[in-house]
Amino acid sequence: MTGNRTFTMIKPDAIEKGVGGAILKQIQEAGFKIIALKQTKMSPEQAGKFYFIHCERPFYADLCSFMSSGAIIPAILEKENAVEDFRKLIGATNPANAEPGTIRKNFAESIDKNAIHGSDSNDNAIIESNFFFSELERIS
Ligand code: CMP
Repeated sequence: MTGNRTFTMIKPDAIEKGVGGAILKQIQEAGFKIIALKQTKMSPEQAGKFYFIHCERPFYADLCSFMSSGAIIPAILEKENAVEDFRKLIGATNPANAEPGTIRKNFAESIDKNAIHGSDSNDNAIIESNFFFSELERIS
C-alpha cells in the first residue's frame, strides 16, 4: 500500500442513525475511491485489539464496548495525500470542535459517538486495513 491510501470505519452510532450511505456519498464526492468496503460487527475482544494503541487511556473500556455494540462499515480509500486529506474531511475528534461541513460536524454527536474513524498515519492505515481486509476483498 502506498501513501495514497487510508483506512476508515463508519461507527455504530452512524449506522444506527441510518446515515452510513450519506457518509459514503460525502467521502466519494470528496474524491476518495473505494478500494475495499463491507459491513460487519466486532466482538469486544476484536475492538480491544483494533484500539490496543489506546489501552492505557481512561476511555479505552468504553471505546471497546461502544465499538462492538453494533454494525460498522470499514473501508480502504485511495486519493492523493489520503491520510491527511481524509482527516480534514472528517474533522476534529470532538464534533464540537469540528469545522462546518466536515463529516463529524454533519453526523456525529459526541467525542465517543463521533460517527467515523480515520487513520492517523500511513503506517497505521496499512495495519488497520490489514486488520479487516484480505487481498481478495480489495480491488487492487
Ligand atoms: P477514533 O478516531 O476512532 O480513535 C479513538 C477514539 O476514542 C476516538 O475516535 C474517540 O471516538 C474515542 N475517544 C473517547 N474519548 C476520547 C478522548 N478523550 N480523546 C480522544 N479520543 C477519545
